[in-house]
Amino acid sequence: MIDTATAKKIEEIVRDAGKTLLSAHLETGEVHQKDGPANFVTDYDVKIQARLIRELSRVLPGCSFFGEEDTAGNEHRVGEGYTFFIDPIDGTTNFMFDYKNSCVSVGLGENGSMIAGWVYNPYTGQFWSAVRGSGATLNGRRISVNPGGLEDGICAFGAARYNEGDGIFNVLPKLFSRSLSVRCGGSAAIDLSRIASGSNAAYVEMLIQPYDYAAGSVIIEEAGGVIGQMDGSPITLDRGCPIVAGTPKAVAEILEIIKAEK
Ligand code: IPD
Ligand code: CA
Repeated sequence: MIDTATAKKIEEIVRDAGKTLLSAHLETGEVHQKDGPANFVTDYDVKIQARLIRELSRVLPGCSFFGEEDTAGNEHRVGEGYTFFIDPIDGTTNFMFDYKNSCVSVGLGENGSMIAGWVYNPYTGQFWSAVRGSGATLNGRRISVNPGGLEDGICAFGAARYNEGDGIFNVLPKLFSRSLSVRCGGSAAIDLSRIASGSNAAYVEMLIQPYDYAAGSVIIEEAGGVIGQMDGSPITLDRGCPIVAGTPKAVAEILEIIKAEK
């Protein structure tokens, strides 16, 4: 576990990293293609992750890192001791097109289980955080998921071109007609955190990586929500997996919809 002072230090590091997005000006040549279609990394992603690794290693010396980008210290190691899961910019495509819907997402695992998460959207000033056993907060105020199910709220989903054909568009018509509406916000960490503060009823994505959902998973669970895979098994932290997250009722309904689709 971590104490309040340590959690506060990590929060400040995440906040400072997020603020750099506000004054960012992307120049030609600062966007690079990764594997697969429409998969990008900018020089800002790399710089922010390198800075986070440098600063977070001072807070918990000996910790390991599982981050999205290739930077020094990112060994994708999950196991004994503390592991930080870092997405320096979740919503990179949004960032490239000035959508103002991107965040810095940092999760903390201990011996293979998630114990804390911080998600900061500097454009709106929304800062979600949670430490296992202490509840979840948005800008310091306690939050909890809505009591309802799918029919009472918005169902968010993620779709990445580099995972095209993953089946999300087969289930989408049902998610749409069973909810109030659907949304694809382009930042999984923000959409997961929005479940915790009641803006989303659920989130579905067919393949996504631990650095996208690690922080959000603790924030959701501490707010009374649930997150898992589509067969009901727990999320994985050493590799990507499909995820369904939401209010307990919405997740139960979505698992039924997906089962019926098979
Ligand atoms: C992506 C976003 C997107 C989700 C993708 C992620 P990135 O992360 O979270 O919403 O659908 O699966 O890879 O590339 O913007 O950090
Ligand atoms: Ca990213």
